[in-house]
Amino acid sequence: MSRPFAVLPICALVASLSASAFADAPLTRDSGAPVGDNQNSQTAGADGPVLLQDAHLIEKLQRFDRERIPERVVHARGTGAFGQFQASADISNLTRAQVFQPGTQTPVFVRFSTVMGYRGSPEQARDPRGFAVKFYTQQGNWDMVGINLPVFFIRDAIKFPDFVHANKPSAVTGVQDPNLAFDFFAHSPEATNMLTHLYSVQGMPDSYRHMDGSAVHAFKFVNAQGQVHYVKFAWKSQQGVKGFEPGQIAESIGKDWNLMSNDLYGAIKQGDYPKWDLYIQTLTPGELGRFAFNALDDTKVWTGVPEQKVGTLTLNKVPDNYFESTEESAFAPSRLVPGIEPSEDRMLQGRLFAYADTQMYRLGANYQQIPVNRPRVAVSNNSQDGAMNESGRSGDVNYEPSGHAEKAQDPQYKYANTPISGVTQQMAIKRPANFLQAGEYYRTLSSSGKASLIEALSGDLDHVTDRANKYAMLSYFYKADADYGTRLTKATHSDLGTVQTAAKALQD
Ligand code: HEM
Repeated sequence: MSRPFAVLPICALVASLSASAFADAPLTRDSGAPVGDNQNSQTAGADGPVLLQDAHLIEKLQRFDRERIPERVVHARGTGAFGQFQASADISNLTRAQVFQPGTQTPVFVRFSTVMGYRGSPEQARDPRGFAVKFYTQQGNWDMVGINLPVFFIRDAIKFPDFVHANKPSAVTGVQDPNLAFDFFAHSPEATNMLTHLYSVQGMPDSYRHMDGSAVHAFKFVNAQGQVHYVKFAWKSQQGVKGFEPGQIAESIGKDWNLMSNDLYGAIKQGDYPKWDLYIQTLTPGELGRFAFNALDDTKVWTGVPEQKVGTLTLNKVPDNYFESTEESAFAPSRLVPGIEPSEDRMLQGRLFAYADTQMYRLGANYQQIPVNRPRVAVSNNSQDGAMNESGRSGDVNYEPSGHAEKAQDPQYKYANTPISGVTQQMAIKRPANFLQAGEYYRTLSSSGKASLIEALSGDLDHVTDRANKYAMLSYFYKADADYGTRLTKATHSDLGTVQTAAKALQD
């Protein structure tokens, strides 16, 4: 029990003891009434029982009993900070989104996270890092809900709950189990590229400041003429990318398992504000077919497409209240603004539903009225009521159409027209190319980068007791790159001939 305190750096303790804005205000009940005694309950005489009429005591206990809300089903462990985004390039030929008009400064809230751990779990787990940005634009909120890596494990939202179940702690023991995770991955070869990124040194950033970010999916940019370009977004850290070597992770957790939060907040408090540049890659709809893979498959990067810098993000404020900012923040890939629309990426399409849905459960129907989520522009529509509503809406014309007070709707903000074709179907995508980019990425690594990847990945593969799953995994990595697969096979004391035979049977 004493361990978290033992590792808490002195500076963090001092900061947490510093006076808050409320420190000098007199103590009150939630109703605002002054409290006379906050140390002694009201009792029936000196030795009698405590009285139910002590409303301050009852209220205090009731409020305490209700302090927890459900943690996020994934990305429960997080750290948030406020800042701003400065647009720097004229891309009005691509998008009419006001956030990208050159010189525009947009306030932001950013939440970094790990994916699988519980709310208090160590921050240095081998896990992707969430990189979620809420832009409070003059046209409403835009959430870019990305991660530190450019690709993802799977490509269809229908697999996401299974992917999470296999990677979260076991339903029996409550402890994460590589056997379950690699059982899923052995039957999901599309994860080979992401696993290669995840087990590299860059896949284990040594701080939130030292990692890049990506929205992963393609989105659509729509310009004032209604023309569509597909776009991918990527953040590049001005602090550089630095990661842990496999052997450093356990030691770092032992020293301070809140390292990522302490590092970020320490830097911001010292005025060393972290910055990321935002880059885009764009393609016309006609150019989507130019790759050997499906351009809307989120397990792939767009190779050979030039990047353009369009702005810079700066984080400069630690929130005053962890719960009301970081815990109650709610990001959703569906929260877009005119000029930015979703692509047909099958994962993204599922995400468009899932986030607002979980947030209505986690925070309540009116979660967008919580200050950290509230747009900085007026909200004006006919949605009403629900738990904890405080929209302040007035007027009895709460419907449309109406001859009175109908709200203005500007046709320029209609969604872009999108050509569609085909019949309804349930089929895997064409050109899955499950192993292509894992090999390409492996070959970009330095020799020490390759050695670190082999050490980290073989360390986890070694725990896989199911022979068929282990050989399936090894065959995927061999198919990606023969050297990669051979070294993993040796490091896990497995049989190369068996791996080669299994790899030969795989389709590209
Ligand atoms: C179909 C696939 C996916 C589903 C159904 C899904 C679902 C969820 C859910 C339910 C949450 C919790 C949200 C909350 O409680 O506020 C979440 C959080 C998050 N997801 Fe996903 N997710 C998917 C894929 C992805 C992908 C591909 C990425 C990265 C590109 C991603 C990045 C994140 C991030 C960064 C958060 C944390 C946001 C925050 O800080 O509050 N997810 N996801």
